[in-house]
Amino acid sequence: MSTSESDTIATEATTQAPQTSNRKQPFPQGFLDTISTGWADRPDLAPPTRAQAPYAAARRAALSRAFPGDRLVVPAGGYKQRSNDTDYPFRAHSALAHLTGWGADAVPDSVLVFDPREDADGEPGHDVTLYLRERADRTTPEFYGDATIGEFWIGPRPSLAGVAAELGIPTAHIDGFAGADGDRVLDDDTDLTRTVSELRLVKDEYEIAQMRLAVEVTGRGFDDIVADLPRIIATPRGERAVEGVFHHRARTEGNGEGYDTIAASGPHACYLHWTRNDGAVVPGDLILVDAGVEVDSLYTADITRTLPVSGTFTPIQRTIYETVREAADAAFAAARPGVTFRSIHEAAMGVIAQRVADWGLLPVTAAEALDAERGGQHRRYMVHGTSHHLGIDVHDCAQARREMYYDGILEPGMVFTIEPGLYFQIDDLTVPEEYRGIGVRIEDDVLMTADGPVNLSADIPRTADEVEAWIARLSPGAGA
Ligand code: GLY
Ligand code: MN
Ligand code: MN
Repeated sequence: MSTSESDTIATEATTQAPQTSNRKQPFPQGFLDTISTGWADRPDLAPPTRAQAPYAAARRAALSRAFPGDRLVVPAGGYKQRSNDTDYPFRAHSALAHLTGWGADAVPDSVLVFDPREDADGEPGHDVTLYLRERADRTTPEFYGDATIGEFWIGPRPSLAGVAAELGIPTAHIDGFAGADGDRVLDDDTDLTRTVSELRLVKDEYEIAQMRLAVEVTGRGFDDIVADLPRIIATPRGERAVEGVFHHRARTEGNGEGYDTIAASGPHACYLHWTRNDGAVVPGDLILVDAGVEVDSLYTADITRTLPVSGTFTPIQRTIYETVREAADAAFAAARPGVTFRSIHEAAMGVIAQRVADWGLLPVTAAEALDAERGGQHRRYMVHGTSHHLGIDVHDCAQARREMYYDGILEPGMVFTIEPGLYFQIDDLTVPEEYRGIGVRIEDDVLMTADGPVNLSADIPRTADEVEAWIARLSPGAGA
């Protein structure tokens, strides 16, 4: 809820203040006299420091080194209203999560502040403080009368001491925070925003473990979908059923989805960000499912599988599917430390251009289509990129400079997707009729190591044969 005061109760006694709300019922004096008493003491336990604390400390130290002498302000963000008295679920700004190690339990409106100081040896550094709203004393109207932050309404909030112990960061009450002239504030300050984005390009071992976890839970979510295919087919808005099945896994094992699930059956698969998900799932069609679980630390997977609803690919579906897989395999083969990020995309595009030229779909040769200046005809059938960085944001490191990202060099510790596709829209007159309405994407999550790429999502069936065997195992007779 977005009001700072509940609409169902007021914090003044009946005799005070004229009514301004059409719903407030003023507190009678007896309520006010008794509400603050009769509560057991809450021991302020010091929780153990979280495993991610030293990693977050190293990230803060790196940021401090990049801005000697500057005061840095990194806000968590706050609630956003969805409809009256109803907010979207709060999720902290990814940079704040990265720099604090806070995840799904981050407190709205907190601010991480780096105050410049000089070390004893004369080196510049920063004192870092996490400002957050201290829990209200039970004698305050906030406790019982504030539907947005009052503990009577939303449940217990963490204490300043508890957060300091868990994250290993000094904390202070948000009321003590004041902005100052010259502050470098995230999102307003381009250099700061770029730097925190680039800080996330190479993941540490804690982050890699979280990415593995996110992929593992996502794999279970895909299994759930495959196992539920008969019910999904029987549901008029079967795409919504797919979304719901995945949501159940995402919420029970993680914080939720890292982005809106794409459940795109039949021709919907050709709409790259189809999230309306209101179509039927029909045997004989393919269904493209692009979904990722965001775990409690806020790291997310981003995985796509394209399934034959009946359990078996038709010959043309299989040809297109295996071409996309060939493009993905070429991208994997190109990815290694020391080459540019861009070379992954170029490898996938080489396969896509060649195959669609072989099928007679292009007005030019594959070589002409691949010409950087004058080509691109094949991109009609795959307009999106092959890869993006992945982490706390599904499209991670989005403010990194081009020379660090698309033209940057692959390094061990980078995590990114490989996700080629082919999409033949239902009304695309440039392709034979049998291609129309078929969309395929295969998306895997990849960790670069010194020895080359590791496919984190390799356990989720991927080849056409593996996908058919998967459906046969979990959902025998699904589309019969
Ligand atoms: N799910 C969005 C993407 O694949 O980039
Ligand atoms: Mn992706
Ligand atoms: Mn995706």
